[in-house]
Amino acid sequence: MSITGAVRAKGPRGAISQRVGQLAPSGIRRFFGLVSSLEGVISLGIGEPDFATPWHVTEAAIYSLEKGQTMYTATYGLPQLRHEVARYLEDRYALRYSPDDELLITVGVSQGLDLATRAILDPGDEVIVPDPGYVAYGSCVVLAGGVPLAVPTSQETDFKLEAPQVEARLSDRTKAIIIGYPANPTGAVMAKGELAGIAEIARKHNLLVISDEIYARLVYGMEHTCFATLPGMKERTILLGGFSKAYAMTGWRVGYAAARAEIIEAMSKIHQYAMLCAPIMGQVAAIEALSSGQAAVEEMVAEYDRRRRVIVKGLNDIGLSCFEPKGAFYAFPSVRGTGMSSEQFAERLLLEERVAVIPGSAFGACGEGHVRCCYAASLSDIEEALERMGRFVSRHSPG
Ligand SMILES: Cc1ncc(COP(=O)(O)O)c(C=O)c1O
Repeated sequence: MSITGAVRAKGPRGAISQRVGQLAPSGIRRFFGLVSSLEGVISLGIGEPDFATPWHVTEAAIYSLEKGQTMYTATYGLPQLRHEVARYLEDRYALRYSPDDELLITVGVSQGLDLATRAILDPGDEVIVPDPGYVAYGSCVVLAGGVPLAVPTSQETDFKLEAPQVEARLSDRTKAIIIGYPANPTGAVMAKGELAGIAEIARKHNLLVISDEIYARLVYGMEHTCFATLPGMKERTILLGGFSKAYAMTGWRVGYAAARAEIIEAMSKIHQYAMLCAPIMGQVAAIEALSSGQAAVEEMVAEYDRRRRVIVKGLNDIGLSCFEPKGAFYAFPSVRGTGMSSEQFAERLLLEERVAVIPGSAFGACGEGHVRCCYAASLSDIEEALERMGRFVSRHSPG
């Protein structure tokens, strides 16, 4: 069986909808089935902080549970959390969203993507997605009845989405663009001037932009540009943010969407039937994270930056050419020099040297020839993984 889920799921006729039947299972999730069956694996696979949630955040949630705060919240989320998110966006980006009707607390950015695509798409509507890109982008579009249009990006242009290529893919059915910078799986970050080109297209062709900014705080040596701050973009943007990555809170399942009231209302309509609300303990933890968690974020970011330098240098030194990722916690080296496909490389590296990386092809056709290495792992694990990978590459180098 292919480890990236190249086999398409097909339910018995009549039982499974065609829409779901045509989706391939996530190549990342499937890969972890294989990883968990092996011993002694160093994982550069899963895109998850290796830090525990800052203790004062966990403690705030424990205290709220002790006080019996175990109920549903308002569908839009706890008012105090919406106020904290509004304050955060204003302090950080000078963006004003009303906590009353322009912010929705979601079950992570994952649910934000699902709600946003379902709220805006009619059957057959097209949505631009970067290739390679986060696995949920295209799938959420398909599940919402839309059609994802993959726009290629490459190492030559540091995996940035280029405005002329986006424009060339548009048709009169194109409704939106999904972007996510800093990017998973590449670590690419687009600077303000580069994003301005995408904004120009959105304006010219009357498109919405879903901007997944889950990695906004994990940027190294440059500034993160919040897409909604670009001229005329606040009205067109569904800004998705979260706590999973910057605050090491993946399991708390909380995030937020910020957009104009009409869109937030539509998203909350789906949310109230499909989810009711985000979990209250996650929301309480998120209030604490936003109000007092900034020092912890800065410490973690400094540590990721140290690891980033080690892994990027290490990969280039062993002959896996790797552009310098400026954000998130991923390096995306090329494995073309080994003559293996990205899937073969990942599978053989795992079986022979017990190092888990994700084949780039799990993120789209343009990810082929690369693997994703997550450096949210201890420095000693990263160093050991690089040694094993070096051995593997020299053993398999052609000639
Ligand atoms: C680009 C991107 N967006 C969204 C998510 C999911 O975030 P959350 O935990 O907030 O649902 C991930 C998780 O890996 C991600 O990499």
